[in-house]
Amino acid sequence: MSAPILLQVNGETHAFALPRETPLIYVLRNDLGLNGPKFGCGLGECGACTVLMDGRATRSCVTTLGTAEGRAVTTLEGLATQGTLHPVQAAFIAEQAAQCGYCLNGMIMTTVAFLARNPSPTEAEARAALRYNLCRCGTHVEILRAVMRAATGFTESVEVQP
Ligand code: FES
Ligand code: FES
Repeated sequence: MSAPILLQVNGETHAFALPRETPLIYVLRNDLGLNGPKFGCGLGECGACTVLMDGRATRSCVTTLGTAEGRAVTTLEGLATQGTLHPVQAAFIAEQAAQCGYCLNGMIMTTVAFLARNPSPTEAEARAALRYNLCRCGTHVEILRAVMRAATGFTESVEVQP
């Protein structure tokens, strides 16, 4: 029998006796009960399943357990520290940037990775960073406002072009 696959998620290491090809999102949701990442298209196209892998926004529906082995995986549940929301989460709440909320995991995780590499983006850069995250409810203006609010230090609402 092969050795278990070790997966580091939100700072904790877990061992799985599962096929290496198992989609990461199945392991996160079904085995670890982490329901932040959402199953949308299952094809790597919508972004709902996004997690951070070594700090990079990664689509967990098309990432295998074997690929994630040895990498630091962070889910939405891992963003808050000691009960305090991550500034990006707080900005999304402040802007009420949601309708059904299904896309929000991906929007937030992608924004966290984006602002880590570009803390002071222009609105155009923020739009470009989120262009492959789909929102079927059309909440894009509020989402963009939340991204810019988080980027400006979470002080006040930022007007963006519709
Ligand atoms: S569910 Fe993974 S990109 Fe759509
Ligand atoms: S808020 Fe419903 S998909 Fe974005």
